Amino acid sequence: LTFRNRVGIAAGFDKNATALAGTERLGLGFVEVGTILAEPWGGNAVARRVRRLPARLGIWNRLGFPSDGLAQIQPRLEAFSAQQRRGGGTGMVMALNIGPHPGNLMSAANPQSAWEIAVRELTHLVRALHGVADLFVVNLSSPNTRGLRAFLQHEQLASGLFWPLRQELQALDVRASRKAATRLLLKLPPEDADKRPWTQESLSSLVEPLLDQGGCDGFVAVNSSTRLAAEAGEDAGGISGAPLLPIALETIVRLKAITGDRCLLIGCGGITGPNDAVEFVEAGADLVEIYSGLIYRGPMLVRQCALALKGSREQFHPSLGLG
Ligand SMILES: Cc1cc2nc3c(=O)[nH]c(=O)nc-3n(C[C@H](O)[C@H](O)[C@H](O)COP(=O)(O)O)c2cc1C
Repeated sequence: LTFRNRVGIAAGFDKNATALAGTERLGLGFVEVGTILAEPWGGNAVARRVRRLPARLGIWNRLGFPSDGLAQIQPRLEAFSAQQRRGGGTGMVMALNIGPHPGNLMSAANPQSAWEIAVRELTHLVRALHGVADLFVVNLSSPNTRGLRAFLQHEQLASGLFWPLRQELQALDVRASRKAATRLLLKLPPEDADKRPWTQESLSSLVEPLLDQGGCDGFVAVNSSTRLAAEAGEDAGGISGAPLLPIALETIVRLKAITGDRCLLIGCGGITGPNDAVEFVEAGADLVEIYSGLIYRGPMLVRQCALALKGSREQFHPSLGLG
């Protein structure tokens, strides 16, 4: 799996695969499309769902996974992928961020049936989208879907979700004669289920079982923060952008200490300039992603970060290539 540079766009920017031709031209190394849901969903039915915090270079949102759904998104991804193949396949690596449908989770009779719905939908999404994905990111860390982050504590997270998904992907890779294995990553929140900052212990108890059983190839750290939203007086939603940077960097440092070279780490949260991107790689990230920074700094941020990271080639994860 070869990246033309280390900079990607984080999930939520192109939720429905409608902006791929444009993001491709920004020169990104990769894009994380989604969160893609199995069926359409309007998101949280509230009036105020997203707001800029310009003084802090932050964004507050409680969108709650609006998605056009698999049936509409899949053909867009297939058309883009065919177009890339015709052009020689030198473009962006495609990461697909998938999540369980909030409406279906809410209608579940109890937490166990909600879990079963999540496993069923994620498996369905992986099967349907394998042909157009270089890697999948499972999103169980959105702050805006009630009960979602609790799945991270589920005793069957590794054995009942990640390991079966990994086996599914292996079989699909063989059937499709894939040269590079399709990677499976988990997107992490910047805090635990009680909104407490991660400790080495709490992070390790989440991450280790996933790596021990070989179900997970790495982590995207981090999603937006409910703790920062609560501190800002918001009773819901999450905050991204500059206020998240120190928390995201600390999470990457902790993850690197726990995982070493055993997995791929994608650093995300609060990159508003090239130095922030360099800090992530120095902290142990193989790749970086941006979202809120693009809103404040504009599209040139991609190129600035990619150039700043050009010299750090030797720190790249051994299983990946830089083109
Ligand atoms: C408006 C908005 C929508 C988002 N939607 C998603 C999403 O659908 N799935 C997801 O995993 N993360 C989503 N995120 C989180 C971002 O992918 C990213 O983790 C977070 O914004 C931190 O990065 P940043 O500080 O560079 O924005 C969203 C963020 C924002 C601001």
